[in-house]
Amino acid sequence: MECSWKTLLLLVCTSLGVQYTAIRSLHDSFSGPCQDSTHCQVHQGKEQRWKSLCDDSRVLAETSGAAARKHILLFAQTRSGSSFTGQLFNQHPGIFYLFEPLYHVQQAFTNSSSRLQRALDGRALLGAYRDLLLNLYNCDFSFLESYIRPEPQDHMTGAFFRRSSSHALCMTPVCPEGSEEIQAGQPDETWCPKKCQALNLTIASQACQDRNHVAIKTVRIPEIGDLRTLSEDPRLDLRIIHLVRDPRAILASRMTAFASKFRAWKIWNATGRQPRYVDLTQITRTCKDIEYSVETGLLKPTWLRGRYLLVRYEDLALNPEEKAKEIYRFLGLDLHQRVLKWIVDNTNSSVPSSSEWNYKYSTTRDSKATAQSWRVHLNFDIVKTVQSLCNRTLALLGYKLVQSVDELRNITKSLMETSV
Ligand SMILES: *[C@@H]1O[C@H](CO)[C@@H](O)[C@H](O)[C@H]1NC(C)=O
Ligand SMILES: *[C@@H]1O[C@H](CO)[C@@H](O)[C@H](O)[C@H]1NC(C)=O
Ligand SMILES: *[C@@H]1O[C@H](CO)[C@@H](O)[C@H](O)[C@H]1NC(C)=O
Ligand SMILES: *[C@@H]1O[C@H](CO)[C@@H](O)[C@H](O)[C@H]1NC(C)=O
Ligand SMILES: *[C@@H]1O[C@H](CO)[C@@H](O)[C@H](O)[C@H]1NC(C)=O
Ligand SMILES: *[C@@H]1O[C@H](CO)[C@@H](O)[C@H](O)[C@H]1NC(C)=O
Repeated sequence: MECSWKTLLLLVCTSLGVQYTAIRSLHDSFSGPCQDSTHCQVHQGKEQRWKSLCDDSRVLAETSGAAARKHILLFAQTRSGSSFTGQLFNQHPGIFYLFEPLYHVQQAFTNSSSRLQRALDGRALLGAYRDLLLNLYNCDFSFLESYIRPEPQDHMTGAFFRRSSSHALCMTPVCPEGSEEIQAGQPDETWCPKKCQALNLTIASQACQDRNHVAIKTVRIPEIGDLRTLSEDPRLDLRIIHLVRDPRAILASRMTAFASKFRAWKIWNATGRQPRYVDLTQITRTCKDIEYSVETGLLKPTWLRGRYLLVRYEDLALNPEEKAKEIYRFLGLDLHQRVLKWIVDNTNSSVPSSSEWNYKYSTTRDSKATAQSWRVHLNFDIVKTVQSLCNRTLALLGYKLVQSVDELRNITKSLMETSV
């Protein structure tokens, strides 16, 4: 029965042929419990649709108490702006933030013997992901230890994936050596890997317990439905920030970041002619995963009630401060000054700053320009192909199609419905 509503939705959508409208009206009629809540009224009307998706987190606030520990999941796809968005949590002194710890699980599974690998099918991998998340949300690093290679000795490891993306793992008590750099406002990535000794996971666990909340970023869980057991787990108070981005931009970003895997796409981009061996399945899969997850989220099943916020990366990039406030309102937490300062230092190119980010996965100084840069870096023929492969996803999220090269390159023309 679990899927019956989704089947129904798809049937309705297909028969109407205009799923965008259908989903919106279904969404409105399904949003029952928050219709009478004043702070949800912003979502009424098409114009305000993206300003704030009806945020019914107050449904939960009464039962959980203000200071209760929140378990935040930044749920996204590769190259959809999750490093940037993760900083909104990483910079908060009350939040213990981890950048993609599931990497270690995937690596361990990928490198295991082929017989074992066959036994560990996709479902098992997802199960391992969920178990690890639950473990980490409780500040227990023992599951993670069993996946890290080389295996930690005496709970010490030098192989913690992207350690320097977690501020808490680069400062006291975990790493007392970097206080000068932190004082000087240097990004952790520039000094933490050099200065901090091997990571003592016992101390890391203590540092996690000392903070009020835990936030974890992941791009490795395909669909939001895969999170249902975690969302329903009474030991957690899960809050999912579902970050989405224009798939055309995701593709352009992947082509740049993973150039060797995208050689055929690069040729296509340079020549305007599609090589026969180009692989369209990955971007198609990405779009389907986004589409299913957003549909699930917008229909507000009981298990997601008050736990789900949809954020378009472009809205965050254009209006970081306002969006950050909205995210923190949803979490029921105060937006700390440090987060606001980070936003000013890192999104406004006219403010001189000591923090120059220069790293493959880095967040960037001018978020507005970066969010749009795909429009000058992607061949129109590729854009047309993605528009046709991902047309439902684009329509669902309010990203407009372009019909000509001129329209594509004209940055002054917004491709988003109701940018705030
Ligand atoms: C998995 O194998 C790859 C390639 O052999 C290697 O580079 C990587 O370090 C291994 N990862 C782990 C966690 O063992
Ligand atoms: C790691 O930290 C714990 C707690 O402070 C300490 O007892 C332990 O000796 C440390 N481990 C190593 C190998 O230094
Ligand atoms: C960026 O900085 C400039 C100069 O300080 C200021 O005038 C402008 O309002 C800032 N913009 C944003 C979005 O904060
Ligand atoms: C595509 O080609 C254009 C023009 O040749 C180039 O400027 C751009 O960087 C390329 N885009 C990617 C993602 O490689
Ligand atoms: C997406 O493309 C399909 C097939 O070309 C078409 O039937 C459908 O109407 C399109 N949907 C939207 C929302 O444009
Ligand atoms: C670019 O788009 C803007 C806004 O839609 C429009 O006013 C302008 O005429 C366009 N410029 C060109 C060169 O097409």
